[in-house]
Amino acid sequence: MTIIKNIGELVGIVPAGVLRKQGAEMAETGVLKDAWLAIEDGKIAGFGKMADLVGHDGDDLSVIPGSDRESIDAEGGLVMPAFCDSHTHIVYAGSRDGEFLDKINGLSYEEIAARGGGILNSSDLLHETSEDELYEQSMARVREMMGKGTGAIEIKSGYGLNPADELKMLRVICRIKESVPALVRVTFLGAHAVGRGYTHEGYVQAMVDMMPQAAEYADFVDVFCDEGFFTVEDTDRLLEAGAACGLRPKIHANELDVSGGVQVGVKNGALSVDHLERTTDVEIEVLRGSETMPTMLPGSSFFLGIPFGRAKEFIGAGLGVALASDYNPGSSPSGDMRFVMALGCIRMRLTPVQALNAVTLNSAYAMGLSDITGSITPGKRADLLLTRPGWTLTKLPYLYQTPFLRKVFLNGQPLE
Ligand code: NIG
Ligand code: FE
Repeated sequence: MTIIKNIGELVGIVPAGVLRKQGAEMAETGVLKDAWLAIEDGKIAGFGKMADLVGHDGDDLSVIPGSDRESIDAEGGLVMPAFCDSHTHIVYAGSRDGEFLDKINGLSYEEIAARGGGILNSSDLLHETSEDELYEQSMARVREMMGKGTGAIEIKSGYGLNPADELKMLRVICRIKESVPALVRVTFLGAHAVGRGYTHEGYVQAMVDMMPQAAEYADFVDVFCDEGFFTVEDTDRLLEAGAACGLRPKIHANELDVSGGVQVGVKNGALSVDHLERTTDVEIEVLRGSETMPTMLPGSSFFLGIPFGRAKEFIGAGLGVALASDYNPGSSPSGDMRFVMALGCIRMRLTPVQALNAVTLNSAYAMGLSDITGSITPGKRADLLLTRPGWTLTKLPYLYQTPFLRKVFLNGQPLE
């Protein structure tokens, strides 16, 4: 057993059985000052006030010779759940820094894509890259994300754009899943763009046809349901094919236009609908009462210079909101969830507690993982962040670039 003692603030305490926060609940989180937390077998074993611990079971909490108990002195630092990142595209090859220059020179995301850049550019690079090399390049990003405090990551395919290369991506994602202490969830996003050499219809059919093979690797199916990419009808077909193979939808909707993606997602029981930069009150109404988590990606709003999602209005209407990084080479080249949290506060005007719930419990929900991670709850995985002394929850998004982390624990083990 490991006991973290002298925790200045333990935040993100949620009762067992609460799998997401919605509406007014978004503003609530359990906080304990001057606390301890115990970890056993990779799980949170318990927590409480320091005052109640001294003499708790008759020892002084130092390492007891001959026992496997050790204590870590938090020295007044904050302990919170590790970040959960429910939307990423971190398996990709090379870089798109050339397009970054095009963007600086004034081209929009759509204009870059229309010139054969964008997702198709990444697909060409991925085709030329060996599976081992793709794994190594992607692992570097996963290590970076874990080092910055992310403990659960959803990773999408979608740069293969033909059956063989999509399967190559899915194998790489599964290999990452097997090799890291973070939890990984796998999403088949064959319908990310029409692959080279296909007609639109031929490509959708190819993705429908490969669904059973994809389902051997994937947990979820995703479609880029947006202007210039895939229609509501395509999405309906693909989600039905996914459902027939046991894949629940998590979809891209309303990034470039009001796409109808929210409606088709909710209709098909999507676990999340993601992006949502462009939404009307109609989408808010459709989401009310559903099991679908609205997920916003402020890193792509920031990088592309497009509107931020209307998170406050969603919450005001009683909905939950999750925030994720969208880490990818074209629209959000960063997987820094602390920065995502900061953008949630600074640009979307969420309170630090709302933003915390959005980047932990609700993002875990959007991967189907909120029963095992995403909060300080006895029995959940000990996926925890310990900050340096002097940090409070509010300072995390406020001092948004000051190094704050002292230790990341994933599955109860400190990350080296
Ligand atoms: O979520 N919008 C679609 N897909 C990604 C971008 C992928 C890319 O540009 O490589 C996104 O923003
Ligand atoms: Fe995305």
